[in-house]
Amino acid sequence: MSVWHVTGGRRLEGSVTVQGAKNAALPIMAASVLAPCETELLNVPLLKDVDTTVRILRGLGCAVSRDGDAMTIDSRGLSRAEIPHSLMRELRSSVIFLGALLARCGEARLSMPGGCELGPRPIDLHLSALRALGASIEESGGDLVCRAEKLKGAQIAFPMPSVGATENAMLAACAAEGETVIMNAAREPEIEELQLFLRQLGADVSGAGTPTVTVRGFTSAKRVGHRIMPDRIVASTLLCAAASAGGDVELRGAEPRHFSTVLHSLSECGCDIIERRLSVRLRSGGNLRAPRPVITGPYPAFPTDAQPLMLAACLRAAGTSVFVENVFQNRFRFTEELCRLGARIHTEGRVAVVTGVPALYGAPTVATDLRGGAALIIAGLSAEGRTDILDEGHVSRGYELFDERLRELGAEVMRED
Ligand code: EPZ
Repeated sequence: MSVWHVTGGRRLEGSVTVQGAKNAALPIMAASVLAPCETELLNVPLLKDVDTTVRILRGLGCAVSRDGDAMTIDSRGLSRAEIPHSLMRELRSSVIFLGALLARCGEARLSMPGGCELGPRPIDLHLSALRALGASIEESGGDLVCRAEKLKGAQIAFPMPSVGATENAMLAACAAEGETVIMNAAREPEIEELQLFLRQLGADVSGAGTPTVTVRGFTSAKRVGHRIMPDRIVASTLLCAAASAGGDVELRGAEPRHFSTVLHSLSECGCDIIERRLSVRLRSGGNLRAPRPVITGPYPAFPTDAQPLMLAACLRAAGTSVFVENVFQNRFRFTEELCRLGARIHTEGRVAVVTGVPALYGAPTVATDLRGGAALIIAGLSAEGRTDILDEGHVSRGYELFDERLRELGAEVMRED
């Protein structure tokens, strides 16, 4: 359990390097078991979710070592195809190991990943894609028992884009005989990053970043080196903080094209934004105006993970800001905590309406989830007085040394464990 002590009223100034992307690192770490090989990763963020994935890899028999942001995974010793229930509960997105283990071992056993703070997190699209490739998947006693003597290429058409299901299908398809075409695939930059890694691993994969991904097989390399892309949601978080607290912040390593919808909304709020290929600079006086409605959806629409961050930045914006959350059912829980700071937010189903208030006032709050916790920190930075945030480890799942990063920019933030 941590408590974040955030004192508002300070402008954010300076330049920071954006950490490696959590949602690129996790699937790539799973992909490292596709074949017996040594994987060298750089720019791997220091996060709880990454630590949990390391424990899963070691539990499978892989050797994993870390040196700062460098990680080496040796999957030649892989000897098990089972993920313990406790680790599945800690990290529901480890369902991504299904495709990689089926490809490597022809079998996999893991417990059904539960829902989370964002609402139910079904995996029906993952399972239907793997069954299309020839896997048999039985549910018994809350466990998924998967077998695939032989994976065969297939045409997979998703009814809706799913990041995890697309990744699972790509990984399993690497070991399938013949060609696999994945239609209505998720187009997130993290999917393109996975394709880059799989190509280095020796897979014939194309189309990532478009709605149609094709996988034609795989001749495994023995060693792979890869640098994880910058985290576009952490970049969005830092810019939303600077927008609402006021300041002049430059993010080194951020790729503007990966979160252009967030940048567009921030400029609608009145921020000055200077984009370069590998950096973004934002200047703000802190007095924002309401942007046009923020409507989340699969990439390239506004990212659902940035919705809480943008909403927090708009709490004092002049006018009325409207947010429509189309991806997760339960992603407005954090707004109740923001109202404790004096925010005026009305939620109705998938819509949240924010009426700008002249000031926010620090208060004790509780972090409900990863991005909701980050939203509270953003709000605290532009509130008068001190905001304390009780956090049962949500923020450190996705933000590396976030208190230090914010202090580097002049914020008054302390995290007490
Ligand atoms: C990934 O989750 C990310 N996690 C999420 O980030 C992100 O919010 C989400 O993609 C959307 O961009 C990782 O990459 C580890 P989905 P994922 O499958 O793959 C429904 C964060 O904050 N669905 O694209 O689980 C699902 O319920 C996390 O870092 C099914 O119905 O998301 C949701 O409504 C939070 N059946 C929608 O699709 C399925 O089989 C999109 O989910 C799978 C998903």
